[in-house]
Amino acid sequence: MAYKFYIEVYGCQMNVYDASRIADIMSTTGFIRTMEASEADILIFYTCNIREKAVNKLFSRIGALKKQKTTVVAVGGCVAQGEGEAIFKRNNINISFGSQMYHELPQYVNSVIENKADKILSLNLNHDTNEQGAKFECLPKRQTSSYSEFVTIQEGCNNFCTYCVVPYTRGCEYSRPVADVLSEIKGLLASGTKEIILIGQNVNSYDGEAPYINIGQTRGTWSLDRLILEISNLNGLKRLRYTTSHPKDLSINLMKVHSQIPVLTPFVHVPVQSGNDRILRIMNRKHTALEYVEKLQQFKAICPTIQFSSDFIVGFPTETEDEFYDTIRLAQRVKYTTSYSFKYSRRKDTPADKMEGQIPEDIKENRLKILQTSLLKDQINHNKAIIGTTQEVLFDKAGKKKSQYIGKNIYLQSVIVESDDNLIGNFRNVFIESARENCVFGKLM
Ligand code: SAH
Ligand code: SF4
Ligand code: F3S
Repeated sequence: MAYKFYIEVYGCQMNVYDASRIADIMSTTGFIRTMEASEADILIFYTCNIREKAVNKLFSRIGALKKQKTTVVAVGGCVAQGEGEAIFKRNNINISFGSQMYHELPQYVNSVIENKADKILSLNLNHDTNEQGAKFECLPKRQTSSYSEFVTIQEGCNNFCTYCVVPYTRGCEYSRPVADVLSEIKGLLASGTKEIILIGQNVNSYDGEAPYINIGQTRGTWSLDRLILEISNLNGLKRLRYTTSHPKDLSINLMKVHSQIPVLTPFVHVPVQSGNDRILRIMNRKHTALEYVEKLQQFKAICPTIQFSSDFIVGFPTETEDEFYDTIRLAQRVKYTTSYSFKYSRRKDTPADKMEGQIPEDIKENRLKILQTSLLKDQINHNKAIIGTTQEVLFDKAGKKKSQYIGKNIYLQSVIVESDDNLIGNFRNVFIESARENCVFGKLM
């Protein structure tokens, strides 16, 4: 009898990518995927540790699902890595595997099924053995594909922002070789994928060596801009994006490719976190507010159509009211298209967790509201600015009302239209007629 597995995924886009690769390796080693947790013999939770809320949600969910008859419970990714051995004290978990070890999951599952082991802990980040990336070599070809796909090109982080768990949960920076990235993307395009989103924790620090590639260029250290140039030559690609960029790694060459490559969207997510220099310094962000703003201005000078989004953290330890308003001022200056903002969340074993001057919850809450109100104003203005224009939209879901479809333009603005045909997975031109806070409405051309 073949055992059925069910995967539930939390967190960032890289987790979505990883989960699809876990499904690939499980389904090529004799297991069958089910989309119904109640049918599964194997429950896999692929997790995020970035803020406390995400972790709490996870453990209550495991508790709820585990009540069903299940043979194996496996928890993987950033919470597994962060909790270590302690995870086995919770919820009767059998397997805990880190984000660099998921290629071995079928083996671990078999050991539990065959009663060879009840608890398996596998958290090697492969720093010492220099075998980061080993998992990519063990994974089968991608088994499924859609019109839009993430492709991990870089993983891990060397920046150690003082609030963040990622360097501890994902390990240090690793770039996949150019040949691997190109061959994965070629496979996807051949099976009909139209949009590729290159992902990395610091995607613009990509420096994939090209040890066995023959594409007519000198071997050596690569960069994201060079990789983008290579990818843009591949047949079938209609839209290319990348995320997330660190401000300090935003190079002039990268800005230049935006004005050269039509398939590359003129939209970049460049998180700033705070607009105050003292806070940026104790966050260890490695740039000042002015340096950041000047970089974005330079980007606009090189590529006038470029727009930006950002992440913000409010209520970092010791942040004063005045310092918080520096963040508001920076945001008002840049005028982001979209943004994500968060209350600072204490994460164990990070330097910021040990800082004096933690900010009370109600103050954080209040600052978050003020920031979000301000960011929303810019977002509405960006939405209003495209009324009366024609936008190319890639549709990705059905709307709430009958015959409604929702898609994204090049700036990731949500565009809603009515159509009797199913538009999902298609590019269509849309004439924009009206705008709201979070979306715009239009007519198919
Ligand atoms: N590598 C990316 C972001 C990864 S995490 C970068 O450096 O920009 C995604 C976002 O989560 C971060 O940009 C930050 O805004 C937020 N974040 C990370 N740790 C956090 C914490 N401890 N509390 C609140 N927000 C946090
Ligand atoms: Fe975390 Fe900073 Fe690395 Fe981003 S750059 S993943 S915020 S440590
Ligand atoms: Fe979360 Fe890990 Fe991604 S902590 S944001 S899943 S890298």
